Amino acid sequence: MEEQEYDYLEPIEVAKGVYWIGYYDEKASFHSNPYLLIDGDEAVVFDPAGVMEYPKVASKIFSLVDPAQISYIILHHQDPDLCSGVPLLEDVITNKQLKIVTHSRAAVLINYYGVKSEIYAVDRHQYELALKSGRILKFMKTPFCHFPSAIVTYDPKEKLLFSSDIFAALSVDWGLFAGKGYERQMETFHVGYMASRKHLNIIMDKIAKMDLAMILPQHGSIIKGEMISRCIEFLKGLHCGIDSLLSEEELYGWIPK
Ligand SMILES: [Fe+2]
Ligand SMILES: [Fe+2]
Repeated sequence: MEEQEYDYLEPIEVAKGVYWIGYYDEKASFHSNPYLLIDGDEAVVFDPAGVMEYPKVASKIFSLVDPAQISYIILHHQDPDLCSGVPLLEDVITNKQLKIVTHSRAAVLINYYGVKSEIYAVDRHQYELALKSGRILKFMKTPFCHFPSAIVTYDPKEKLLFSSDIFAALSVDWGLFAGKGYERQMETFHVGYMASRKHLNIIMDKIAKMDLAMILPQHGSIIKGEMISRCIEFLKGLHCGIDSLLSEEELYGWIPK
């Protein structure tokens, strides 16, 4: 899908101080993309991954930073593919000030993974997080896309949107950066996971107003350049969730008569 060759066994710096720390399985269509942000002597992990991928993700994190440097783990919603490895990660992070950054509604469910760190609920902090350097991360709620209180993170400094499951894609033909045909790869994911066309449309209108250099989803590929507006336009027109063009059987399985 992309021209440049990368060594996916290593962390890859995709923007200044921002690293892709995921794992590429050539046979799987469902990959997770955790990211690490290093800001001065402080580090932030985004959607770290599941138990299965934990050893690979952790080895990438700790090849870049010391366990004491990690101040925040941002969890955009409560799904196991991004949260179930968090208790393992907490066990090796030596920073006693470590906080889990999420929405309070997601936190209620995240507790069930056995997470121990203090919760920083974005809805109780004006949807902002200030790092030690003064850098501010902003959080936007993306209701019902796909969790009722899902959030995404915007980094105004590098103009990055960590979009979690929005802009995610499923494909065995995977590359780190989205190329031609990525829109179609997003289709299967969004039709099945997003609640409705209306919800997704409202969110796309808001994202279209952001000053963006890159969109970094939790699955699929990183979107940059002219692909950003193309992907936004594609998702705006997509029938998904309750508005999908799936048959009744596909939507409901068993239909009581
Ligand atoms: Fe999810
Ligand atoms: Fe996900």
